[in-house]
Amino acid sequence: LTRPRTSKALAAAVIALLLPLGSGAATAAGPRFVPGAPGAGDAYFPTAGNGGYDVAHYDLDLDYTPPGPAPAPLTGQLQGVATIDLVATQDLDRFNLDLRGLDVTALSVGGKVAAEVSAPAPGAVVEGAAYWQTQDDSARVWELTVQPRPKLKAGQRARVVVAYGGVTTRPTDIEGALYGWVTTRDGAMVVSEPEGSMTWYPVSDHPTDKATYAFEITVPEGKVAVANGLPAGPPVTSNGRTTWAWNAPDGQASYLTTASVGDYTLRTSETADGLPIIDAVDDALTPANLAATNASLALQDDMIAFFEETFTPYPFGSYGSIVDDDSVGYALETQTRPFYSRVAREGTVAHELAHQWFGNAVSPERWQDIWLNEGWATYCEWLWSENQGRATAQTRFESVMATPADNAFWELDVSDPGPLGLFLRPNYDRGAATLHALRLRLGDDVFFAGSREWLTRHDDGTATTEDFETVFEEVSGEDLGAFFDTWLRTPAWPSMS
Ligand code: ARG
Ligand code: ZN
Repeated sequence: LTRPRTSKALAAAVIALLLPLGSGAATAAGPRFVPGAPGAGDAYFPTAGNGGYDVAHYDLDLDYTPPGPAPAPLTGQLQGVATIDLVATQDLDRFNLDLRGLDVTALSVGGKVAAEVSAPAPGAVVEGAAYWQTQDDSARVWELTVQPRPKLKAGQRARVVVAYGGVTTRPTDIEGALYGWVTTRDGAMVVSEPEGSMTWYPVSDHPTDKATYAFEITVPEGKVAVANGLPAGPPVTSNGRTTWAWNAPDGQASYLTTASVGDYTLRTSETADGLPIIDAVDDALTPANLAATNASLALQDDMIAFFEETFTPYPFGSYGSIVDDDSVGYALETQTRPFYSRVAREGTVAHELAHQWFGNAVSPERWQDIWLNEGWATYCEWLWSENQGRATAQTRFESVMATPADNAFWELDVSDPGPLGLFLRPNYDRGAATLHALRLRLGDDVFFAGSREWLTRHDDGTATTEDFETVFEEVSGEDLGAFFDTWLRTPAWPSMS
């Protein structure tokens, strides 16, 4: 059905005349204050992250009590105060943070306390500074909306303080895998890729909004809380509770934040170059897992040196690993401090370390670009294997290419695997094979120069597959359009001819 254009235009004019000219309306001279977008614009996770501001720093003050032994329910108690320093990027009438499954108890912006209101109907006017939460689990929408008064002007800095808390459980991602603040008997495994940070603090939960972090995590005496970066002082105990302070001064994407809690032993050392290494190893690992973990972690210094020689200097100020005796079913490259479930195996340790360059220093701009993370980290596993005198990168490449052409492995579009396809094998193995094929095509000198250019140009930022293609075309001086179409965008066995 097509209505005549004139009546549509007339209707629009009438509606415009009826709009109230309140302080929120546009005028020729004054600013126009509008709500920030409820998402960062990611097609895979539309309500993750937020528009209208950039977070510079999160200061997370957490108080956590784990469940304790069975038969107690497997739930914890978390109370937090998040102090969030942000900069408005547009004139803001209101803006959102992401927060899932926890309740806000108090909120202020610039020292002005906001009142809690129930979620207003669309278009309804809310008086004064206010906040409200909306949560639709089936649609995976979790939003905390803040209406600051006075409104925020573009370029204005603001400190948002959110007191919040609740019962912690074992949340799951869109695929049903454990992630976020995963409660364990003796603590919590905190691994939040891709948008699970909202299960433990109010956040703009998308990699395009990197920020620095400081943590103060208070837990029952005897527990260890380990986050990103370096300790900001020794643990302080009073009244049976211990506060662990950590400081992560390098920009980091929210999915790479951790604050895991457990019966860990901390082991502190330094690489030959003076990089501090802090490992947190669960006291309850089985003897076999402990032995395998110790052997792998002992190689971290050599791995750092190897990737520094191959690529660029290690991008952050510290490193180390967290190994929990419970399992989320995978490892995660949490920034400066990867997390391992039950055991840290050597190949996985090389993989998570490589992510510090590929994924953490240079992060995906959209979740569809995940192959840039997983392909590179897998390729670095191959390089490490070759360096150790085991299977070469060429051999590993050939074994991927030996996957029969009619295998479903080749049917995934790795340039756009879909939100349910983020962690499928092709993003890892075909991604790595793509990098090796690129190396075979360009030669070692150009390939590794391109890799360094990629890491240098996009350091401390985010980038897309198109940005990746641009770097390698510039460095090689070649048109690689057909190559990348074949390897990344054609869901079929990639012929090398
Ligand atoms: N990025 C992790 C790795 O490959 C994998 C994370 C898997 N996450 C998940 N929700 N299944 O090192
Ligand atoms: Zn990975």
